[in-house]
Amino acid sequence: MNQEIRERTKWFMEDRFGMFIHWGLYSIPACGEWVMSEKEMTVEEYERYFHEFDPVDYDPVKWVRMAKKAGMKYVVLTAKHHDGFCLFDSALTDYKATNTKAGRDLVREFVDACRQEGLKVGLYFSIIDWHHPDFPKYGDRQHPMRNKEEYKDEKIDFNRYLDYMHGQVKELVTGYGKLDLMWFDFSYDDMCGEKWRATELIQMVRQYQPDVIIDNRLEGAGDNHGSIVTDQPNIYSGDFASPEQIIPPGGVCDEKGEPIPWELCATMNNHWCYCNFDHEYKPAEMLIRKLVECVSKGGNMMLNVGPDAKGRIPAQSIAILEEIGAWMEKNKESIYGCGICSLPKPEWGRYTQKGEVIYAHVYETPLGSLPLYGIAPDKLDRVYYLADGTQMNRGEAWNTVLYDDVAFVSFGENPVFTYPLPDKTDTVLKVILKDS
Ligand code: GLC
Repeated sequence: MNQEIRERTKWFMEDRFGMFIHWGLYSIPACGEWVMSEKEMTVEEYERYFHEFDPVDYDPVKWVRMAKKAGMKYVVLTAKHHDGFCLFDSALTDYKATNTKAGRDLVREFVDACRQEGLKVGLYFSIIDWHHPDFPKYGDRQHPMRNKEEYKDEKIDFNRYLDYMHGQVKELVTGYGKLDLMWFDFSYDDMCGEKWRATELIQMVRQYQPDVIIDNRLEGAGDNHGSIVTDQPNIYSGDFASPEQIIPPGGVCDEKGEPIPWELCATMNNHWCYCNFDHEYKPAEMLIRKLVECVSKGGNMMLNVGPDAKGRIPAQSIAILEEIGAWMEKNKESIYGCGICSLPKPEWGRYTQKGEVIYAHVYETPLGSLPLYGIAPDKLDRVYYLADGTQMNRGEAWNTVLYDDVAFVSFGENPVFTYPLPDKTDTVLKVILKDS
C-alpha cells in the first residue's frame, strides 16, 4: 500500500464511524433500491416514481444531526443510484430532483448541512445506470431489460454513456465544494476498471479534488477488493476496501500482510433503502459491538439508514442511533483514532488500541477479577473505567498467584457486584501500561 493512500486516508481511519444514506425514487415502492431490476421494469414503468416523488419532509440538517449525535463523523448520500435518478441538478439529464415536485438540488442541501454541522461529506455515485439508453441491457447480469429479446441486437454507444457518466462525476467534483469521500458503486464481470475509463475518471477527479478519498469499486465490489490489496495498485484501485454486510475475519491486509484501510458498509435492517415491511433491525447493542470489532481489526463502520419517500429516517433507526450515541458519548475515546491492538483478542471481549493506550471492551462478566490477557503484572500501570473515569483497583490476590504472568483488575470486593457489568453492551476499561 503506498504512502499517498496512507496520508490521504488518515482522517478517515481516525474517524472510524460514518452514516450511509440510501434515498431516491425507490423509496416510494419501498422494497429495495434494486426494484427496477428485480421486477424487470422498463424505464417508462419506473418513471412513474419520478412523477410521484415529493419529499415534503426532506431536511438534511435533521439527518446530519442524528448522525452526529450517534457519534458518526462522516455521511455518504446516494447522489445517484443504479436507477439513474439524480438527487443533484445535473445539466446532463432531465432525470433529476430539480424536475420532480421537490424542485431543487437535494444534494446541494445535503452538502451544506454536513458542512454546517461539521461532518465530513461523502457522495455515493452509481457507475451503473439503468436509465441511460447507452448502457448494455440484454444479457447484462442485472439490467432490468436483461431478458428482453428486443434488446438483443440493439446498437448502443457505450462510450457515449461513459462520457455522460464522467460528465456527471465532473459536475459533482466541481460543483459542490470540497468533497471528503466519493463512493463509486460498482464493478462486475468485465464491467470493471478501464471498461469505465477508470484512469481518465480518476485523473479528472484528482485534478479537482486532490484529497478526496475514493472507494475501491471502480474495479471491485463487495466480493472483490481489486488491486488495492496487491503490490502494484492501479491508479483507480481506490483508497480503501469496502466489504459489504460482512466483517472480514482478520481485517483487510495487502499481499505483504500489511493492514490496509477498509470500511464495512452495513444495513440496520435487511435493506439499504426504506422498506416498510422490513422490521428486522439489529439491536444497538449488537451494532456497537460490531463497530468495536471493525476498529479492533483496523477498519471503519458505515451504518446505513433508508429515509422514507417523504424524507424521514425510520423511527426504529432513530432509536438505534440514539442508543449508539449514548454509548459513544461515554466511550468514543476507545473508537476514534483507535485501531488494531498488538495483543491477541481476549476471550471476554476485545481490545482496541491508540498509541500506547489499550482499551479493554468487556462483554462477558468475570467471576472475580478480570485477567488482562497479554499484559504482565509488572507492565500494568493503571486502569480506569472509561465511562466515568473511576480508577479501578488491581485484582491480583491469593487466588491469582497461579497465573502470575497476567495482570488482573478488580471488579469490586464482592464478585456479585460484577453482574451485571456497569454497561451491559460494552464496559470499556482504559488500560495504561508502564513505559517500557
Ligand atoms: C451493493 C448494491 C447497492 C448498494 C451497495 C451498498 O453494491 O448494489 O444497492 O447501494 O451495495 O454497498
